[in-house]
Amino acid sequence: MENEIVLSGIRPTGNLHLGNYFGAVRSFVKMQEEYNCYFFIADWHSLTTHPKPENIQRSARTILAEYLACGIDPEKATIYIQSDVHETIELYLYLNMNTYIGELGRVTTFKEKARRQPDNVNAGLFTYPTLMAADILQHRAKWVPVGKDQEQNMEMARKCARRFNNIYQTEFFPEPQNYYFSGDALKVPGLDGSGKMGKSDGNCIFLIDDEKVVRKKVMRAVTDSGPQTPNSPKPEVIQNLFTMMGIVSTPDTVKYFDEKWNDCSIRYGDMKKQLAEDMVRVMQPIHERIVEFSSNEERLDRIARVGAEKARESAARTLNEVRRIIGFRPY
Ligand code: ADP
Ligand code: TRP
Repeated sequence: MENEIVLSGIRPTGNLHLGNYFGAVRSFVKMQEEYNCYFFIADWHSLTTHPKPENIQRSARTILAEYLACGIDPEKATIYIQSDVHETIELYLYLNMNTYIGELGRVTTFKEKARRQPDNVNAGLFTYPTLMAADILQHRAKWVPVGKDQEQNMEMARKCARRFNNIYQTEFFPEPQNYYFSGDALKVPGLDGSGKMGKSDGNCIFLIDDEKVVRKKVMRAVTDSGPQTPNSPKPEVIQNLFTMMGIVSTPDTVKYFDEKWNDCSIRYGDMKKQLAEDMVRVMQPIHERIVEFSSNEERLDRIARVGAEKARESAARTLNEVRRIIGFRPY
């Protein structure tokens, strides 16, 4: 178990929000205790949608500080920035040779992004899943903690591993599996009545938000006119509030408001106040540590440098073996 390898990453396109935290980063913190972990910042991937990032190094540092504030420990896990490990690109090239345009074109995140940026449907966006597969396979990772929305990319990564093994008649790459914190995929809802919390949906509660901002955002959450008959099913906007409460509050609190819903005595204002309270309790220590870690750029850069060295070592080992398997001279 201890030798099993874990890898995951997040694109530095903004601050981390509660969806990132509960969907992914919380698992990182748990897994570093038991596994050989690599956690990285996917700055190359962010070029697929943000070709001219304002300050790409600062954005990477922001996520790094937030990773550390959430409890990822550079003594336990390898933390690095994707663009510091150029070995990845060579594996990306080999994987692209065995990936078909038909399957890449069917990836829903590609179709969605192509719709959002019709003037920039670039080849990097199209091959996003093979770069992600290279990220994973270069460390021969077995587990990948990500949110539910990454399932299709993970399926592509498994295909890349399987296909490489089949073509070259080897068992070199393990098939990477999604890892979920409590067994099931979690989708952190938005509180604006829509589906998930996400940066492009503009409905995020960020880890960097201070107490006042969190309370304000929660109090603004969309609700309806209330249940009309006892024990009625919950419409999506209300279910979202309950789902969020299930994530940050105690089971007793959820039960209390559930009963209020069922007997039609619920007051959304009270529920939101409680939800904000519980959210602040979970977020406060992280918030304080973000401020602390962000203030020391030198330390962040040192951590990234050490991480890059370790990641490059692991990637180079894999790459050499891949070159040998395909028939190239090892470096
Ligand atoms: P965003 O949707 O805000 O752009 P990313 O796509 O960068 O977020 O996601 C980074 C990680 O956080 C991924 O593992 C993703 O699955 C997870 N994640 C993002 N939003 C949510 C959410 N609302 N619920 C669960 N996981 C999420
Ligand atoms: N696609 C992931 C996201 O949008 C980011 C990512 C890039 C990733 N490469 C990865 C996640 C490798 C896990 C493993 O969140």
